[in-house]
Amino acid sequence: MIPAIIEKDGRHALLVDGRPFLILGGQAHNSSGWPGMMPQLWLAVEKLHLNTLEVPLYWEQIEAQPGKFDFSLIDTLVNQAREHKVRLVLLWFATWKNGSNHYMPEWMKRDAEKYPNTTGKNGQPIDSPSPHVNATMGADIKAFTEVMRYLKKVDNRHTVIMVQVENETGSWGSVRDYSARAQKLFEGPVPSELLKPAVLKALNVPAVAAGSWQKVFGDRADEYFQAWSIASFVGQVAAAGKKEYPLPMYTNAALRDPLTNPMANTYESGGPTDNVIPIWKVAAPALDLVAPDIYLQGSERVLKVIDLYDRPDNTLFVPEAGLNHENAKYLFPVIAHGGIGFSPFGIDDNGRGSTAEETEKRLAPFAQEYEAVAPMMRELAQWSFEGKVKAVVEHEDHAEQTIDLGSWQVIISFGGMGRGNAAPQNAQSIGKTMIVKLEENKFVITGTLCHLTFKPTGNNSGKTWQYLKVEEGRYENGVFKSLRILNGDETDFGGPGFGTTPTVLQVSLITR
Ligand code: DGJ
Repeated sequence: MIPAIIEKDGRHALLVDGRPFLILGGQAHNSSGWPGMMPQLWLAVEKLHLNTLEVPLYWEQIEAQPGKFDFSLIDTLVNQAREHKVRLVLLWFATWKNGSNHYMPEWMKRDAEKYPNTTGKNGQPIDSPSPHVNATMGADIKAFTEVMRYLKKVDNRHTVIMVQVENETGSWGSVRDYSARAQKLFEGPVPSELLKPAVLKALNVPAVAAGSWQKVFGDRADEYFQAWSIASFVGQVAAAGKKEYPLPMYTNAALRDPLTNPMANTYESGGPTDNVIPIWKVAAPALDLVAPDIYLQGSERVLKVIDLYDRPDNTLFVPEAGLNHENAKYLFPVIAHGGIGFSPFGIDDNGRGSTAEETEKRLAPFAQEYEAVAPMMRELAQWSFEGKVKAVVEHEDHAEQTIDLGSWQVIISFGGMGRGNAAPQNAQSIGKTMIVKLEENKFVITGTLCHLTFKPTGNNSGKTWQYLKVEEGRYENGVFKSLRILNGDETDFGGPGFGTTPTVLQVSLITR
């Protein structure tokens, strides 16, 4: 059964082998998808306990001569991924890689006239491909079509579960292309698909607007034109690939600050930043989703991003996040939002010759999360799809937080494994918890560096209560296997708690 993304009541799931699947991912460094680099990549895969490796496919390598395709890299990746029992997300590094044309084959780089870059406002050259060139788009479509055709042929086991089309599209250094070709389009009318009332409303533009880009979109016209142009291009590449083999497809975004509504000359313009998602949805319907790459910092900012990319019309997926301890905590809110996966960037040692111990240490913050949730990955994916999961992460002020579960409120305080208020404060804001509501009074809970206690609310308001049973254990083949019952000191002083390594608890409460 081919992988697919499904939607129900505004929530999404990625089906792999017909069942919801959660990507516990990791992405290779940009230049690590070469056969000679594979040993260090597989070492990182093993140490991270991931279930899905994200790895680039390089256009410059696959079509080094025009029209001659070399798919040996696909063979190597698919075969080795099977040996290591992991799935793949392949990243099509083609016309755009971080806004530039750097992965175009040499024969294209050498022919700047046929495959031109963007021209800046004052005629200056911009290190970014023009999205208005049919020859470029045609070449990309041709190569991507061949890739997907080949993949369909060799991957009947669906080792590859998703494909990223391009990488961080957009342009730095110019909000749009000002070449004569682009200028003519810019001065023409806004396409009718964008003038639909619902789209204009989503873009905060009066529903009656019509006319030129400048007239309809004012000071956002240049950026919106760029977003429309790039999204249309990428959408056509994705559609052509899907025609061969309809795997789920997405493209990723270099983010803008989600809190301050900055102008596009301060970030990569035209990619699927939060403000232009409605444009991407209209222009690129073949993409199943647009995805945020999380390199911004601060929990308010990151949680806002997670919120903005979880939309009824957009499945949440985080294909990249900085590989640091703070970011590991965001796996939980992504799952709680119904997200289909998470992946830190740059998991391998990038040819630096680290020892296995060093690799293990570098990956530890994510590895321990993956180890804890991997045994219940399928259950978690299903619970997430059904909206049964809630999560909080520790903010920089370390303040207590609450989760509302209907008849119960959970109060979460962050700190190490001390008793109640005596728990030492965390040095970094890396505490977190995730709670699955199995039944009205029964929960599966995991976390690190926090304590929880419960307060009866709603129907239970004012009632006395106690823990019926708190078990520590793990899921095995869909069943919770208890290691021990936590009681006495482990629940009496500030409620059950978590240390630096996540554990999984099954908690039942009772009112009296
Ligand atoms: C985001 C890009 O998508 C990645 O390919 C990589 O360049 C990282 N930034 C930074 O190293």
